[in-house]
Amino acid sequence: MGLAEVLPTQERLVPIRELEEMRERSLRDPEGFWSEVAGQLHWFKSWERVLEWKPPFARWFVGGLINASFNALDRHIKTWRRNKVALIWEGEPGDSRTLTYYQLYREVNRFASALKKLGIEKGDVVAIYMPMIPEAVVAMLAAARIGAVHTVIFSGFGPGGLAERINDSEARVLITADGFYRRGREICLKAIADEALAKCPSVEYVIVVGRIGKRDTPMQAGRDFWWHEVVEGAENYVEPTPVESTHPLFILYTSGTTGKPKGVVHSTGGYLVGVYATMKWVFDIRDEDVYWCTADIGWITGHSYIVYGPLLHGAAVVMYEGAPDYPKPDRWWSIVEKYGVTIFYTAPTAIRMLMKYGDGWVARHDLCTLRILGTVGEPLNPEAWMWYYRAVGRERCPIVDTWWQTETGAHMISPAPGISLVPLKPGSVTLPLPGVDAEVVLEDGKPAPPKQRGYLVIRRPWPSMLMTLHRDPERYKQTYWSRFVGWYFTGDYALKDEDGYFWILGRADEVLKISGHRIGTMELESALVKHSAVAEAAVIGRPHPVKGEEAVAFIVLRDGFTPSEKLRKDIEDYIRKTIGSIAVPGLILFVSKLPKTRSGKIMRRVIKAIVTESEIGDLSTLEDEASVDEVKKAVEEFKRIAEEAMEK
Ligand code: WTA
Repeated sequence: MGLAEVLPTQERLVPIRELEEMRERSLRDPEGFWSEVAGQLHWFKSWERVLEWKPPFARWFVGGLINASFNALDRHIKTWRRNKVALIWEGEPGDSRTLTYYQLYREVNRFASALKKLGIEKGDVVAIYMPMIPEAVVAMLAAARIGAVHTVIFSGFGPGGLAERINDSEARVLITADGFYRRGREICLKAIADEALAKCPSVEYVIVVGRIGKRDTPMQAGRDFWWHEVVEGAENYVEPTPVESTHPLFILYTSGTTGKPKGVVHSTGGYLVGVYATMKWVFDIRDEDVYWCTADIGWITGHSYIVYGPLLHGAAVVMYEGAPDYPKPDRWWSIVEKYGVTIFYTAPTAIRMLMKYGDGWVARHDLCTLRILGTVGEPLNPEAWMWYYRAVGRERCPIVDTWWQTETGAHMISPAPGISLVPLKPGSVTLPLPGVDAEVVLEDGKPAPPKQRGYLVIRRPWPSMLMTLHRDPERYKQTYWSRFVGWYFTGDYALKDEDGYFWILGRADEVLKISGHRIGTMELESALVKHSAVAEAAVIGRPHPVKGEEAVAFIVLRDGFTPSEKLRKDIEDYIRKTIGSIAVPGLILFVSKLPKTRSGKIMRRVIKAIVTESEIGDLSTLEDEASVDEVKKAVEEFKRIAEEAMEK
């Protein structure tokens, strides 16, 4: 398909001039522009200054007082939306629940009251380790209601990953569930949480939702409480706490280029303004929509586009607990049909997986309600783009390929059918949204010529940008603002074509994107070397047809250990337990030494070139040539075994 243009027939195709004018104005008068957007939310007290920019620290809507829960709920229950459905939830076994705005409001108030009764106050950190159930949304909004800071930890993390995040955030309370259903199995979440909690001194209380009715869930007296019990004695109404615009709404951990995850801190005011605006521009959200984002609330996509974005607009949100292909590969399409989903937002890896199952599974469902399809997390290859457009959207729905990051809080580069739809090109994220000054630059900071690869940077602050990294402002400065001083460094490679369209080419740093999940190579390496048999480890990414990328780990064993299938399994289990299953390498290969520089640094570049069969490049700093042969041998051996298996 290449660069061919696709112009979806769409009723609201208005002149592109509208978008250009808006973008132009947003850059000429950013403060006026963003004030206007912010004015559409409810503020207890208006801001005094729109932006205080002391690079690299930005403070938006300074002096303003706001509350996220009030904006997502109270605002609506005073209108006809009081009885509108807020959440349409479906569990994997097929059970379902709906909550109206009023019901959600009531649940949030009661849970906020329960938190208060436990002594949780403004500024305290509330950790949330939960499956995709309505209580997860309730917990987030309840924390926000009383000015507490939530940190949601993806339910796929193991005890190690969970404990590390809880400890870094110094959470006082953990909210979890007895378990949840995944591919027909019960996953006992509380048991994993208990393992982590043994190493988390800051946690005073644990609140447990009974999702799977596991009666023998161990509960520690004085520390652990059932959700339904704590809300029993709670108040029906809790005054929302007006917080400063710059008060942190949440901390969300993400992987970086060192072994330690980064605690991305988002503000309340600026963040809400960013997600509110983009929800309108990109998804064109309207009251009659049924909106479904398939992400997990443990990631930024869940925060911004399951919880805050849609609820700020009073939208009806679908939420699903389980696996996309359980019990059959058409589970998602049956949900779209059943609830009449109009806007559907997912990840390239899911699209590629469902594409592999073939058109039949999609074709048997009536998907005529769909009007906008979205994607996020990694590049959407043109082939998958076309399939999504044709088989799912039936050539009627524009595809919004949205580029953004945990750090940016909201969409940054994307088609914006809510403003005006530009011609789409499969594989391109099109043009920056209003207020976003994105550029592709070369090493020296000069704009890259058309079609030449460079670094994607953002040249001015925007409202939903991260404020800092939790307890590590120095790392914030180093990571994002030192590569090009005064500009935000995204860590992505990109190029612009002759029409100024952006094409994202993947990470320019040591971060992998496996099924859209961010995993730092060093984070994985430092977990691997903690295994008793592992002396050294080097992790690189290689392309994978469905996952986008997969991790390949090269391992040098300690003396006394010999490579075996059993040991490989054991290392995999160890990673599953320490970080979580998302980090388990796709391939583990044993070698006797790793290519290193004379100063002892592992040359991942060389290993990656061997694995991906590309040009190895300069080897002048290599310490020991035999190490390269070692890696080559391991890769060839693996290929031989894989081919043999194929033949069989
Ligand atoms: C990648 C997810 C290509 C990119 C919201 C970015 C994308 C990282 C796209 C952030 C896209 C995100 N096309 N690549 N549309 N969207 N990425 O923090 O490498 O989990 O830097 O946030 O995902 O990942 P994160």
